[in-house]
Amino acid sequence: MATYLVTGVAGFIGAAVASALQQQGHRVIGVDNLTTGHRDNIPAGVIFYEADCQDAALYERILSQKSYDAIFHIAGQSSGEVSFDDPAYDLRTNAESTLHLLKFARRTGCRRMIYASTMSVYGVQPDVPVSESAPAVPLSFYGVGKLASEHYMRLHEQFDIRSTALRLFNVYGHGQNMENLRQGMVSIFMAMMLRDGHIHVKGSPERYRDFVHISDVVRAFLLCLERPESYGRIINIAGSGRVTVGDVVEALRALHPVPVTVEYSGCTAGDMHGIHADITLAGKALGYTPQVSFAEGLKDMYRRTAPAYGKVAV
Ligand SMILES: NC(=O)c1ccc[n+]([C@@H]2O[C@H](COP(=O)([O-])OP(=O)(O)OC[C@H]3O[C@@H](n4cnc5c(N)ncnc54)[C@H](O)[C@@H]3O)[C@@H](O)[C@H]2O)c1
Repeated sequence: MATYLVTGVAGFIGAAVASALQQQGHRVIGVDNLTTGHRDNIPAGVIFYEADCQDAALYERILSQKSYDAIFHIAGQSSGEVSFDDPAYDLRTNAESTLHLLKFARRTGCRRMIYASTMSVYGVQPDVPVSESAPAVPLSFYGVGKLASEHYMRLHEQFDIRSTALRLFNVYGHGQNMENLRQGMVSIFMAMMLRDGHIHVKGSPERYRDFVHISDVVRAFLLCLERPESYGRIINIAGSGRVTVGDVVEALRALHPVPVTVEYSGCTAGDMHGIHADITLAGKALGYTPQVSFAEGLKDMYRRTAPAYGKVAV
């Protein structure tokens, strides 16, 4: 049995990773400040600390646990839009947290860190699908902070901390925060549809993304533990390619038994027009290929989410 530290354990991705680690028989210590996460999401059996990862005092508290085999650093402010409201907050909560965790890893002799980075580091890319070797020119403060975290991890290679940054594309699935209307394209549109029967899209239907199901993301995180080929790497984790925003909206409407109106207006600061991923490296370094198609994943999410809104499930 190994012991893992999982930050962001009350959030969508952190809770799913923690749960999968426990299912493999491991011990999980979790940290979360509950800003966007919920206590109810934390899997039973996780030893939980409510704290900010950027707060140095946290690390004295979690020292009392035995040493960590790896740190999964998943906590973070995850909205490009929010990062424009308060860039300094974004810097502290995301990049500064990474620095503290790396310092903690050095201090405790933890040699492995796996990080939830993002496609937002890429910015506008002339060539898609985008591979990890493309220049990273983020368009949001959020992307800048995530890129800084990747570089902080690279610098810690000299202290023998083997890190892997997973550049996650658009993650979706059951368990996504349906209350947060500022992060998560699928969850935002689904929440609007289920609550109001109306989807307001900020931006054009021609924009496109690469949607990856939560179960594929969890598998990618766990594969990092098994595969030394992933040490010191930055790796795209995405789904099965390009899907337009208009396609997402129409797929949601097709699942819903009642009429849904749609409005396309406005825009979001720092939004990218279109991006999808080259996942060749994920295949080579992790043996990763996505298993869940967007159509299947969306149907599953709708089926498990709609009943809470009193809607008919497909
Ligand atoms: N969901 C996506 O599509 C996506 C895509 C790319 C990258 N990511 C990254 O994955 C990570 C998890 O995203 P998610 O979708 O699960 O979001 P989420 O909001 O559901 O989870 C983030 C969790 O981190 C906690 N948190 C935030 N800042 C913290 C801090 N400073 N200290 C302690 N806890 C803190 C929140 O309370 C929340 O529980 C984020 O770092 C995000 O940037 C997500």
